[in-house]
Amino acid sequence: MHRCTSCGATTPRWAGRCPVCGGWGTLAEEDEGPAHARRAGSRVPPVPITEIPVESTRLVPTGVGELDRVLGGGLVPGSVTLVGGEPGVGKSTLLLQALGAMGGTGSRCLLVSAEESGPQVRRRAERLGAVGPGVWLVAEATLSGIRDAVESVRPDVVLVDSIQTVWDPDLDGAPGSVTQVRGCAQALAALARDGERAVLLVGHVTKDGALAGPRALEHLVDTVLTFDGDRHHALRMLRAAKHRFGPTGELGLFEMTDDGLVGVPDAGGLFLGDRQTTTPGSAVFPAVEGYRPVLVELQALVVPTRAPVPRRSASGLDQGRLHLLLAVLQRKVGLSTAFADVYVSAVGGVRVAEPGADLALCLAVASALRGRPLAPDLVVVGEVGLGGEVRQVAHTSRRLAEAARLGFRRAVVPASAPADLPVRAIRVGHLGEAVDRALVPARDERRAGPATVMSAEARGGVVGGPTMARRSEADDRRRFKVVSTS
Ligand code: TYD
Ligand code: MG
Repeated sequence: MHRCTSCGATTPRWAGRCPVCGGWGTLAEEDEGPAHARRAGSRVPPVPITEIPVESTRLVPTGVGELDRVLGGGLVPGSVTLVGGEPGVGKSTLLLQALGAMGGTGSRCLLVSAEESGPQVRRRAERLGAVGPGVWLVAEATLSGIRDAVESVRPDVVLVDSIQTVWDPDLDGAPGSVTQVRGCAQALAALARDGERAVLLVGHVTKDGALAGPRALEHLVDTVLTFDGDRHHALRMLRAAKHRFGPTGELGLFEMTDDGLVGVPDAGGLFLGDRQTTTPGSAVFPAVEGYRPVLVELQALVVPTRAPVPRRSASGLDQGRLHLLLAVLQRKVGLSTAFADVYVSAVGGVRVAEPGADLALCLAVASALRGRPLAPDLVVVGEVGLGGEVRQVAHTSRRLAEAARLGFRRAVVPASAPADLPVRAIRVGHLGEAVDRALVPARDERRAGPATVMSAEARGGVVGGPTMARRSEADDRRRFKVVSTS
């Protein structure tokens, strides 16, 4: 087996050029681990699982509340935790704060800075209040240098920032190549196990995943945390992608301030700050991140266009899901956006991936299309099927309890939602029913009855209302004929 020292791809036969990344002379022969393991055999006899002693994991809290929340209490001595994220997101800041807090509570902490000089780190640590007696610092990038530093300090916690810049001259490849990153991470993991110390590794990832690293490391470490956030927002989100000592899926929320990262323990209404409750095209979805409900405003903007292929743009939401839901709105409710650009967004730089947001997204689009807002005290939860049916979503009660706490009084929910909800439930079985019942009628519509008068916005030439929908479908049919006869 030959592995490329640059991209990590494997080929059975040696070649001068890597077939995957095209690098010259990068393929190197690799020992086949499993075969060695088979030859060595297992020396420990198997025992019934009931006779294995139960050991409770000792946790060392990091002192950074939101980090501890994601870790399920704290760091485990002897474990390796990888913190991955794009450059500049705040990985060094977060972990320096954690080191400062742990140093202050009696743990010996060693910060290995393989990127920044000692004075640079010191300056930042001053700003973050992380300068204290329990924190040692070494600006070192070679593996042997790091081993020596660990030997002399004998720390409880080691932070290596970053794994991509650590380098072992005995291994092939440049710093940051797959061989180097994996080899160094393996050696650092051994340091963790031998000394019963927690090792934290910082790993940079780029949007296109071009840099070797975190992906290749995931199976070598016990815990993988991902730190991300929109560059243009102060909000940062920490999640556990893999966690050997606790549940994944818990969300840690921070705000990046001039004094470092500040935890956001009460996240429920975080994203609703600047909401305009009377504007059409907005619906509030009670999302669940890990165990905490977070209310998110979903916005839609629908703009008429003559372009043959209208634009569909989704920020913080899944683009494919948007296409699907627009198709359902058109075919099952008669609300066509065939001649309009549609922009949707989850406000505040948050990412909503749950299908439970379907109904809220559909109602935001329907509201934008018809120029009619949703009631300000309304939240919306439900998944939408291809038939337009509204489906049950997990944790409905927990979501609505948070909505109630934040002052919402009513919720559009699937017909099958649990009884006894904490807010008044508007139960709907079909998307069309939801559109009819959730949108606030325009003032003149109230007199004329629904579905007969277009909204003011629609009359002003902007798409909206059932008239627009019918016209679009007729156009659709005409267009289809032209295509099929040509
Ligand atoms: P950093 O922790 O260096 O990111 P990473 O290690 O993930 O590359 O954070 C860099 C950004 O954070 C930088 O753009 C400046 C900003 N920042 C603050 O806004 N406030 C602070 O107190 C600190 C230390 C950084
Ligand atoms: Mg950094």
